[in-house]
Amino acid sequence: MTLWSGRFGEGPSDELLAFTVSLPFDKRLALDDLAGSRAHVRGLARGGILRDDEVGILLTALDRVQEEMASDAFKFQPGDEDIHTAIERRVTEIAGAVGAKVHTGRSRNDQVATAFRLFTKRELRAIVARVLTLQHTLLDRAVAAEDVYLPGYTHLQRAQPVLLAHHLLAHGWALSRDVDRLLQTIRRLDVSPLGAGALAGSSLPLDPDFTANELGFTARFENSLDAVSDRDFVAEALFDLALLGVHLSRIGEEFVLWSTDEFGFLHLDDAYATGSSMLPQKKNPDVAELARGKSGRLIGHLTGMLTTLKGLPLAYNRDLQEDKEPLFDALEQVAPALAAVTGMLRTATFDAVRMQAAADTESSSAVDLAEWLVERGTPFRDAHAIVGGLVRDSLERHVPLSELVEAHPALGAEALPLLEPGTAVYRRTTPGGAGPDPVRAQVKRFREHLAVDEDRLAADG
Ligand code: ARG
Repeated sequence: MTLWSGRFGEGPSDELLAFTVSLPFDKRLALDDLAGSRAHVRGLARGGILRDDEVGILLTALDRVQEEMASDAFKFQPGDEDIHTAIERRVTEIAGAVGAKVHTGRSRNDQVATAFRLFTKRELRAIVARVLTLQHTLLDRAVAAEDVYLPGYTHLQRAQPVLLAHHLLAHGWALSRDVDRLLQTIRRLDVSPLGAGALAGSSLPLDPDFTANELGFTARFENSLDAVSDRDFVAEALFDLALLGVHLSRIGEEFVLWSTDEFGFLHLDDAYATGSSMLPQKKNPDVAELARGKSGRLIGHLTGMLTTLKGLPLAYNRDLQEDKEPLFDALEQVAPALAAVTGMLRTATFDAVRMQAAADTESSSAVDLAEWLVERGTPFRDAHAIVGGLVRDSLERHVPLSELVEAHPALGAEALPLLEPGTAVYRRTTPGGAGPDPVRAQVKRFREHLAVDEDRLAADG
């Protein structure tokens, strides 16, 4: 029997049930639905709609459902269309006649929105905790890297050397924006839709402020139509996870590149690499590749959700049931990706010799030569042309740049120390720059930033 059978002459077709059922995936909302139902029952009591004995019976039945779910004793029935229906059916079986009162003043429209917000809030917080762990790992590796440097790249061409710590923290700062976004998304979604009913509120004395408070939301909805049709929080969560996924994919791509024989900047720990079924010598960076590859479906989920929402008239439409699987899947992909990337980063061995050898080319100091000329009065554009000409000359005639620098009237022997290995990175002294002094300051700021974000996560609990 359906929840709405009173209005219908015959039951739903098998085809309709097969097509519209959401139980296989929304079972995951069971605990959140139970929490919402408890708050609703207390709210009904407060409004004098339920007597104390009825409240007791319903809360006991809800507890029993929770126990049955925890012990896998809960039996779903063929007619259970979604988790909300299944729970109400079972509550009614346990509570008898009083069970028929649990849905008073409530619709699945406000019920599902409430449960999904509770779920999303908790799950996003868990993601933030994992991002913070990854950031700590980046920080630890940055500190341990001391003054090791490698080429910094633009266009994947060697550009200027940078400290390895600087490079690692660049990913750390990107992740700190993810943390900020996720926390802000949590803030915005922290609004209870319970009490909006199907779309317009109720004639019964419900108190949405009371139930919002019971559920730990910071506010109740302002507009019942908006409350049941708003899925901005799902789209935002999907965007946050997609961009986080993009950040993981960039780390992944670098680890793929750096672990090649061609780069040789790092060795993956055996526990975070895979072998080949045919080629005995292979060691493959599958964690890094999947960190890169997963971003495709994350972006797909965001696009899909926005497309579902686009053009939907107010208020609830069944299309909105399509909100759950993308978010469930996005969370299911991102959480293990964060753990695996953290492990891969924590255990990889960086090859400082290979990194520094790649950075210690004479031309990595090209801009230092130009800036040396600038300090002696040459306009930068002229200095750029002088040094560019020397680099070209050196390549074409196979003469070391140092010889040409020494022979050049505007440069000479005095400029030669600029070409010494490591000099280019030590000369990056400006705030936020890639050299040892600013990076030491940056490490401190990053550590402080992490502590602040940890406090924010704790405070938003
Ligand atoms: N399973 C549905 C969902 O997730 C529940 C809401 C159904 N509401 C309705 N009016 N048909 O959206």
